[in-house]
Amino acid sequence: MTAPVPVIAIDGPSASGKGTVAERVAQALGFHYLDSGALYRLTALAALQRGEPLDDAQKLAGRAAALEIAFRDGRTWLSGQDVTEALRTEEMGVAASQVAAHPEVRARLLERQRAFRQPPGLVADGRDMGSVVFPDAPLKVFLTAAVETRAQRRHKQLMEKGMYAKMPDVVEELRKRDARDTNRPVAPLKHYSDAIFLDTTNISVDEAVASVLEEWRNRAAR
Ligand code: DC
Repeated sequence: MTAPVPVIAIDGPSASGKGTVAERVAQALGFHYLDSGALYRLTALAALQRGEPLDDAQKLAGRAAALEIAFRDGRTWLSGQDVTEALRTEEMGVAASQVAAHPEVRARLLERQRAFRQPPGLVADGRDMGSVVFPDAPLKVFLTAAVETRAQRRHKQLMEKGMYAKMPDVVEELRKRDARDTNRPVAPLKHYSDAIFLDTTNISVDEAVASVLEEWRNRAAR
């Protein structure tokens, strides 16, 4: 029997910095990286491009199953079209959160996510990486920050991209998204007891990355 490919699962709410931390940890270890939120965003985009509603679970599940995706050089392609910028908008985040509430969509995306588990290892970020997609992951992290801090980070990102946004609106949107992702019946965002809790409210990205790497090395040394 060969040992299973190791996975570091990093889950947390929107704008917690988990994507940045996960990518940096993957880089440091030479592991693959899965941004699972991108799959939900791509499903939402594929439906919206065709003018389809986000409450038709069967149709959305079909879209999820048929997605033609490529991740190359930090860019994301859908059916041969570069959709990197379109995916990162707030609207697409909200649409993804709506799409992700359908169990039919989640079921279709399950195997696609697991296919990223390739040697020498994988760092995956999302909402249910440790609970549903990779329950046997040897390291699970729940990465979060206070909603005000997350809103400040998101606000800064939006302004840097030239997208004007009012701070109270950003806070309100994050609260709504947290509520939707946390309260849904399937694969809700939750801090499970087998995940280490990492609050980045008062620490930098570098410190968060170092902390995950230290946990990983401690585990490997055991
Ligand atoms: O991580 P993100 O902001 O790109 O995710 C967008 C939405 O997709 C998020 O609000 C909820 C959903 N999602 C999910 O339900 N499960 C995941 N593993 C990843 C994302």
